[in-house]
Amino acid sequence: MTDVKDPVYKTDALIAEDIDKYLETHQHKTMLRFITCGSVDDGKSTLIGRLLYDSKMIFEDQLAALEADSKRVGTQGQEIDFALLVDGLAAEREQGITIDVAYRFFTTEKRKFIVADTPGHEQYTRNMVTGASTADLAVILVDARKGVLVQTRRHSYLAHLVGIKNIVLAVNKMDLVDYDRSTFLDIVADYREFAEQIGITDFTAIPISGFKGDNVTDRSDKTAWYEGPTLMEHLENVEVSADDDLAKPFRMAVQWVNRPNLDFRGFSGLISGGSVKPGDAVRIVPSGKTSTVKSIVTFDGELDEAQAGQSVTITLEDEVDCSRGSVIAAADSPPQTADQFEATVVWMNDEAMLPGRSYWLKLATQTVSASLQAPKYAVDVNTMDHLAAKTLDLNAIGVTELVTDKPLTFMPYREEAGSLNKTLGGFILIDKITNQTVAAGMLNFALRRSQNVHWQALDITRESRAGLKNQEPKVLWFTGLSGSGKSTIANLVEKRLHRMNRHSFLLDGDNVRHGLNKDLGFTDADRIENIRRVGEVARLMTDAGLIVVTAFISPFRAEREMVRNMCAEGEFVEVFIDTPLSVAEDRDVKGLYKKAREGSLKNFTGIDSPYEAPENPELRIDTTTMTAEEAADKIVEYVLGW
Ligand code: ADX
Repeated sequence: MTDVKDPVYKTDALIAEDIDKYLETHQHKTMLRFITCGSVDDGKSTLIGRLLYDSKMIFEDQLAALEADSKRVGTQGQEIDFALLVDGLAAEREQGITIDVAYRFFTTEKRKFIVADTPGHEQYTRNMVTGASTADLAVILVDARKGVLVQTRRHSYLAHLVGIKNIVLAVNKMDLVDYDRSTFLDIVADYREFAEQIGITDFTAIPISGFKGDNVTDRSDKTAWYEGPTLMEHLENVEVSADDDLAKPFRMAVQWVNRPNLDFRGFSGLISGGSVKPGDAVRIVPSGKTSTVKSIVTFDGELDEAQAGQSVTITLEDEVDCSRGSVIAAADSPPQTADQFEATVVWMNDEAMLPGRSYWLKLATQTVSASLQAPKYAVDVNTMDHLAAKTLDLNAIGVTELVTDKPLTFMPYREEAGSLNKTLGGFILIDKITNQTVAAGMLNFALRRSQNVHWQALDITRESRAGLKNQEPKVLWFTGLSGSGKSTIANLVEKRLHRMNRHSFLLDGDNVRHGLNKDLGFTDADRIENIRRVGEVARLMTDAGLIVVTAFISPFRAEREMVRNMCAEGEFVEVFIDTPLSVAEDRDVKGLYKKAREGSLKNFTGIDSPYEAPENPELRIDTTTMTAEEAADKIVEYVLGW
């Protein structure tokens, strides 16, 4: 099928070009954003294709291409294959699944629509969440022959979780069950039972055939027993309250500071709640400073008022501390700040969540480092039971505590009164090394301890402590395989430093694991926690002015980076004790490699647990060409800057 010309690329491009014109022409109409969710074969693409086709938003030449294409791939006889219109990517056509969120625009006499075509394949929960977060309505498609499936439940739960209030249960392929009323009613009853469990109190069920067109835009004479609206009628008439955001206090997350010259300093961003006028009192969070709005500037000139949904640049009467990531808010109703939260997280990566690992967390225009605790529980989307869980796998949904390295300006995603703060309460997590989005989540609330524990300012500073010892604090972070020689060399380094009257302390893996970390084993999560604690201790010791030497396998790049980032600039020295596995295994000082090979010791680094070698260590010690004494000399020279 690879030779088939893909009409959709063209459709997308053309529609994108025409969006502006489209929005302008239809400005007076209300807008409905919706998503369609379904399993692979539920006929989602066909349905969207039909909606687009029937609303006549397809351009003539695309229609011609479509007709030609349908003939070429020879599907479904003479009828136009609507799925071809929206099955965007070539890969998707080959695999028969929809991969990315594609936004499509269409309009009718009454309304304009933006539909996010979200994938149904298990693996693509990610896209579903992305599409769902801005939608007013979700069309949950089920195949009349199959009824409610696990994915129907998952999608409904996610839609509800992100706060979509209008749910349509579209029972599709009614033509294949002879438009049988009781089949339809059984599915609706089945769905209702589940929906009630998760708190969906209301939904609209419609029997349709996307392929034949029954009850999509035209009422079907084959379902005389059905008295409700067609799908299109429902989409056109369903009430959506855009007022929710308007009723909120004013809030705008600053995207960038617009400073073309010294006379102008404006703060640009998208208003997420309420409205604002020149003269309004505002508070900048996190600085807490207040000021007054001087002007609201847009591309087309100044405004007397701006409201939720608009992108504007605001100037203030005073020079206040405000930068990207700050939130400008109504002075009497600012958002909160905290650095520890309970959050609901949807895991979207093939690699399971690693408790303790730090990820980038993006919320509105803020990016901070965040780590998650092991989940309090995971949610079974079939039964809604809370399951005990140590981690979250692909597609799992769980509740967990989350800690950020800097305070976040936020609002709980779901407030007690039921209103939603999607912008300041929803976040995504990004893997720091692969840059992939690994999870989406919602902040439930800030942990009380995060708002009540403050830093105590100490009169004796770290500089004065180091000064008394006449040295610069350092962390010499040794990393390498078990048996690579870390402890031996670290010991020699410490002896040399001691001889030169330097104040040092050696933290050694085997020793720390007898005390501070005796509760930890060798799973990935335990190793991460091991390194986190050691990092914190090492940092405290540098505050005390010491030269800290650590000898831990510390197999993961991410955690070594984490400790580097905890330390003051230039203090962290990564020392890679580079000994090939075969050499370390030959030495086998503690006999552990032998046990690991025999299978009586599990998760052994280098055997059945990974070691990620440093890419740019400050020092690399090749123990096959250098004695331990020579290595120690080299390291000491480096540290003392000789
Ligand atoms: S780390 O991976 O969490 O950094 P750490 O350096 O604290 O490991 O501990 C490693 C030491 O524990 C090894 O030198 C070895 O003596 C011992 N050990 C016991 N079991 C294992 C294992 N499964 N993998 C690696 N080291 C182990």
